[in-house]
Amino acid sequence: MKLSVIGTGYLGATHATAMAALGHDVLALDIDPAKVALLQSGRVPFHEPGLPELLQEMLATGRLRFTTDVAEVGAFADVHFVCVGTPQKKGEYAADMRFVDGAVESLVPCLRAGSLVVGKSTVPVGTAERLAAQLAEVECDLAWNPEFLREGHAVDDTLRPDRIVMGVDAERSEKVLREVYATVVDTGVPVVVTDFATAELVKVAANAFLATKISFINAMAEVCEVVGADVTQLADAIGHDARIGRRFLDAGLGFGGGCLPKDIRAFMARAGELGIDQALAFLKQIDDINVRRRARTVDLARDVCGGSLAGMRVAVLGAAFKPDSDDIRDSPALDVALATQKAGAAVRVYDPQAMDNARVVFPTLAYASSAVDAARGGGVVLHLTEWAEFTAMHPSALSAVVRQRHIVDGRNKLDRELWTREGWTHRTLGRRSI
Ligand SMILES: NC(=O)c1ccc[n+]([C@@H]2O[C@H](COP(=O)([O-])OP(=O)(O)OC[C@H]3O[C@@H](n4cnc5c(N)ncnc54)[C@H](O)[C@@H]3O)[C@@H](O)[C@H]2O)c1
Repeated sequence: MKLSVIGTGYLGATHATAMAALGHDVLALDIDPAKVALLQSGRVPFHEPGLPELLQEMLATGRLRFTTDVAEVGAFADVHFVCVGTPQKKGEYAADMRFVDGAVESLVPCLRAGSLVVGKSTVPVGTAERLAAQLAEVECDLAWNPEFLREGHAVDDTLRPDRIVMGVDAERSEKVLREVYATVVDTGVPVVVTDFATAELVKVAANAFLATKISFINAMAEVCEVVGADVTQLADAIGHDARIGRRFLDAGLGFGGGCLPKDIRAFMARAGELGIDQALAFLKQIDDINVRRRARTVDLARDVCGGSLAGMRVAVLGAAFKPDSDDIRDSPALDVALATQKAGAAVRVYDPQAMDNARVVFPTLAYASSAVDAARGGGVVLHLTEWAEFTAMHPSALSAVVRQRHIVDGRNKLDRELWTREGWTHRTLGRRSI
């Protein structure tokens, strides 16, 4: 099939490449010419394991191309995936819809009658119905097909998703989507065919649930800290209950990134518009618990430094919001780094992949070339993004260069027996020191 993908960020670049891998002819569009040039030359503008290799392979087949010309896209394909961003509005909880609206507006005059536009961006419920009316005027259909990929696993999640959700208002739209995903569906991936509103809600409900699970265990960590209990053992024990499950129950610094925080806020904002804000009032608590973990991590750092961070040299390990990504949007690690700096510490940040992004957005922070470099001469090390490079590191690598052996494990992922044995004061959220 001939497909187009509108927006080539984390979602769109992956989707376009994966659709070519399924055998389709794909033309991908972005308004950022630098991004388009980079992708067309086989380079991915962000860190996503496996994507550069697949991109190069697909470019070589001739089935994948990138452009900035929306008219070319309209003439090329009859199925168009909208993958543009829906960030949080400045100073508000609501989603900023101008990229989705702009993408559809620019596409409409170029569409051939009978084309299908497929929304993949995460949007407030009601968006699809509004856009469908706009597309009906040019005799085109709309479907909503939310995306659940995780950064760091994006290629695999796209080619082998847990489920495919198709929000449609006509059988012909379902037929086209089933054709697009035929290879994936044939492997037994569950397909949920539903209306627009349910499809839009599935995505935000899934993110709200995941955020709730993380903040739930972090709330338990707050209790554990006061009563001297151990949140990791607690998570292990409740996780044995199959109804609860152990996944997403790692207490720590909490969630960040370009999705969960802004999605739960946009969901609350939309509920307010619909007059049902009480139904989602609990999400405010989920958000607050999450943000509190950042402040608590700074408190732990202050504690191990004897009550003040002023003048301390602090190494921050991690800048990306999670490992295997260079995405620093709403990164808990960088939030903590900034708060630590504000408290008077001299902070040096190291991340295996996110340094370039961090430098651009936070030029006032100092950056190091390695974990050892960040820790050199330091009084406390903060482990804030659980890259394998950090969790696999032997404490002796840092013991030789630090001035004082204090580590705060914001992710609860370091072997605390090992670090303690090596003479480090090891502190973490929701657990007593040993
Ligand atoms: N990143 C993820 O892990 C992920 C996962 C699932 C869903 N989503 C959702 O997917 C959407 C995109 O997220 P992202 O992380 O890829 O965002 P992103 O900011 O990385 O990418 C968005 C891209 O769209 C481009 N764009 C904006 N307006 C355009 C237009 N009119 N025409 C063509 N291109 C345009 C931008 O230049 C940018 O390259 C969001 O709604 C997000 O919530 C993201």
